[in-house]
Order: sequence, then structure tokens, then C-alpha cells
Amino acid sequence: MMYLWENHRCIFFESLSIVMKYQLHPSYQHCQALIEHIEMHFQQASQILHAERNEIRIVPFEGEDYVVKSFGIPHIINRFAYRYLRPSKAKRSYQYSLKLGAEICPEPVAYIEQFQYGLLAPSYFISQHFKYDFTIRPLLSDVTFENRNEILQQFADFTYHLHQRGILHRDYSPGNILIKQQHHKYLFKIIDVNRMQFKTLSLQDRLSNFARLMVDDATMKIMLDRYANLINKPQHEILAIAIAYRDQFAHRRTLKNKLRGR
Ligand SMILES: Nc1ncnc2c1ncn2[C@@H]1O[C@H](COP(=O)(O)OP(=O)(O)O)[C@@H](O)[C@H]1O
Ligand SMILES: [Mg+2]
Repeated sequence: MMYLWENHRCIFFESLSIVMKYQLHPSYQHCQALIEHIEMHFQQASQILHAERNEIRIVPFEGEDYVVKSFGIPHIINRFAYRYLRPSKAKRSYQYSLKLGAEICPEPVAYIEQFQYGLLAPSYFISQHFKYDFTIRPLLSDVTFENRNEILQQFADFTYHLHQRGILHRDYSPGNILIKQQHHKYLFKIIDVNRMQFKTLSLQDRLSNFARLMVDDATMKIMLDRYANLINKPQHEILAIAIAYRDQFAHRRTLKNKLRGR
């Protein structure tokens, strides 16, 4: 009887406490203490990059800066699904970053999943801080941006390079494209990589990938003319298809926002 009771109590306490599961990149073994006390380091970090449903902070640790993304607690069904059925966003961000490689996205440092009552609790993805100069957002909206055409064309090259490697970023939106100037070349990196597809891309995949940038026709033309040359297709045809996908996307987004009452 006593045993039974003790066992029962033991299980009870285990389900109350938070269980942590993590993976730390072999090159960042010196960050073990950061991982084990992530909650404290995250709370102490004063530089908040972004704070919506997910919160992103720059966390200094032993003389280096890391970017820590804290994923909010999903709704109850996904808390269950991420525990038992599919990898969490933190884990996917880590694994996809590894697969993409440091040339394409900031190097992943670790992911941490926490579980309470057998369900997913706040989870974290840690990456190297990429000291970029700007995201593509200001460039897309400001036609006077220095070297704009050149950067847009180099962005088309970068996108083509991703597509040729069978990489489709399902959230290819302006805040997820970071740019750093290196002499006359620009270095592009993608972030927010938890929704990726790896496959041979169709023409539809390729051209609809530009839709979320939500740019005007003239800007689209600069990027898509270059892209058309790279895939060896007529420029006017490629531009018309890409614009149609953009309009479809804009229409769906407006509908969605109306339904949500925004
Ligand atoms: N590794 C990184 N290096 C530098 N800045 C980053 C990094 N990761 C995220 N950021 C910054 O945080 C912002 C939001 O990150 P993101 O992962 O896209 O979050 P969200 O899911 O909220 O869109 C980016 O636009 C960028 O400014
Ligand atoms: Mg983003």
C-alpha cells in the first residue's frame, strides 16, 4: 500500500515539474550553462528585437551575443500534437537551419523544448546573432534606397540559388530576409525557417514564392526579369504569372483578415 502511494506521489510530482529536452550544436558545447538556465538568461536580456506571439531577444553569454526566440504556448491541441505527433517549431527551426547551412541562415546553436503535464510548454530556438545592415523591407517600399536595383537583382540571384537547391521557404516575407553589405556584394540570409519544404520546385512553387513580398509591379519586374533570365524563360510571361500569384495571395489575405474582423 505504502509503495503504491509513493509511486503515485512520484508520478504526480513528475507531471507537475517541467521536463526539459534540448539539443546543443557540437560547436557550441561551451553554451551548456546558457541552455540549462535559459529562462533566467532570457528574462535578464534587455535587448528585445520583437515581441508578439513569439518573443525574440539578444542574449549575451560569455562575450558573445545570441538570438533567442521564445515560442509562445500553442493552443491545447497543438500542445498535445507537438508533444506526441510532430516536432515543435523550435525543433524544426533548429533542424532546418542545420540542413540549410550557415551560408543561407544564421548558424543554429540549440533548441529547447519544455513539457509540463505532458504538454508542450514555452520552447526556445537559439541562433547566432547575424549583424545584418537591413531587412529587405525598407528597400522594397522606398524607391530611392541606395543601390536598390542592384540589391533586388542580387536578391533574385539568391532566390534562384535557393530554388535550384530545392529549398522553398514557406514564409518568404520581408522581415525574414536579412541583408548585409560586403563591399559591392550583398549577403542574404533567411530566418524564421520553421516552415520549409525541400523538394524539386515547380514553376508555380518558384513564382508564387515571391508573393509574400507584396511588392508593386515595377519592383516585381526588376526581380522577375532577372529570375526569368536565370531560368531561361520569356520575361513578360514570368512577370505576368508572378503578379497573378501575388494578387491571389493579397486577395486571400484580405479575406482572412475580414473573417478575423481585423
Ligand atoms: N539570428 C538572427 N540574427 C539577427 N537578427 C535576428 C535573428 N533572428 C531574428 N532576428 C530579428 O528578429 C526579427 C524577427 O525574427 P523572426 O524569427 O522572423 O520572428 P517572427 O516569427 O516574429 O517573425 C527579424 O526580423 C530580425 O530583425
Ligand atoms: Mg519573421
